[in-house]
Amino acid sequence: MDKWLSALSVVTTAGLAVVTNYVTAQPPKWAENTILVWSVFAALAIVLLGLPFLLRGPGGPPAGRARGPVPLGRIAVSGQSMNPPTVSAPVRGREAELERIGNLVRGPGGGMVVVCGAGGLGKTTLAAEAAARARSQEKKVVWIRWRDDTAQLGLEFGKAARILGLPESRLEEARTGRVSLVDAVWKHLKDVEDWLIVVDNVDTPSRVGPGSEPLAAYRGWLRPHGSGLLLVTSRDTTRQTWGPDADLIHLQPLADEAGGTVLLDAAPHAGTENEAEALAARLGGLPLALNAAGTYLSVPTSRHRTFTAYQEALESEFADLLGAE
Ligand SMILES: Nc1ncnc2c1ncn2[C@@H]1O[C@H](COP(=O)(O)OP(=O)(O)OP(=O)(O)O)[C@@H](O)[C@H]1O
Ligand SMILES: [Mg+2]
Repeated sequence: MDKWLSALSVVTTAGLAVVTNYVTAQPPKWAENTILVWSVFAALAIVLLGLPFLLRGPGGPPAGRARGPVPLGRIAVSGQSMNPPTVSAPVRGREAELERIGNLVRGPGGGMVVVCGAGGLGKTTLAAEAAARARSQEKKVVWIRWRDDTAQLGLEFGKAARILGLPESRLEEARTGRVSLVDAVWKHLKDVEDWLIVVDNVDTPSRVGPGSEPLAAYRGWLRPHGSGLLLVTSRDTTRQTWGPDADLIHLQPLADEAGGTVLLDAAPHAGTENEAEALAARLGGLPLALNAAGTYLSVPTSRHRTFTAYQEALESEFADLLGAE
């Protein structure tokens, strides 16, 4: 349609040029009648200006480029938001867990694995490392963050399914209510292999939905029925929440040696391996605390610059500051 429009414009402009040439060069008899000349000129100008409106309709979109909601898949494929976060520091002391997840990613079965444990134990970090390894093995990886919002989760699962090849037409059917979106997505996740979907920080699993059924009924957004692996991270460690078919990995604090290495990674000049391990033990092997201590010790302006000084301060000053006995 655009081609026709430009062709007609060219013809009309050429017509105008012929008329204006006659007017300026060798005027024929009729051209001496100024009223006639200006009428022809005006008519041609009106035709030229009116053509686009006739062809498109006033304010209408150009043909072949209809306006409407941007297809979900296009947003997802072009956006970067569903990539796993990059792990900046080395992940220490989680080889057994990484191997277990790696086997599930590589294995034929698929399913659902839940990495669970208290805040700051390193669940998200473990998931991000597992995601990076899965990617290096050519698996398709999608990262979703639970934001306490079922509708948002549904939208992101829709995008994930699009990335994993679910046709836009099938999603459209689900959006218009002919089939349920959650069932359409999970049917597709059953049909395709070689994927890892991470849903991070699901600390309120009872709110995941859709609907009010318990998560363990496996009819909501989180199910163990895919042919790829669904990896969930959560502070909820109860079997009852995740149901009989979920593979639970209970994260433990880091062993002293791994904990010491985390401290040394962040503050390599703050002392010996033994001193680092002693401090790691004092900090209960909690990665969040180890990371905070290491970062603090690496800053030149910090009052305490060694593992030993930090540990002594923990016993005296910090306890006072925190109001502990
Ligand atoms: N195995 C590890 N080796 C080195 N650093 C780690 C490890 N695990 C976690 N960390 C560091 O500890 C901090 C907390 O980790 P993370 O956010 O993964 O914990 P989380 O269990 O997901 O916490 P939350 O329950 O709040 O979501 C991060 O700064 C991370 O870099
Ligand atoms: Mg987390």
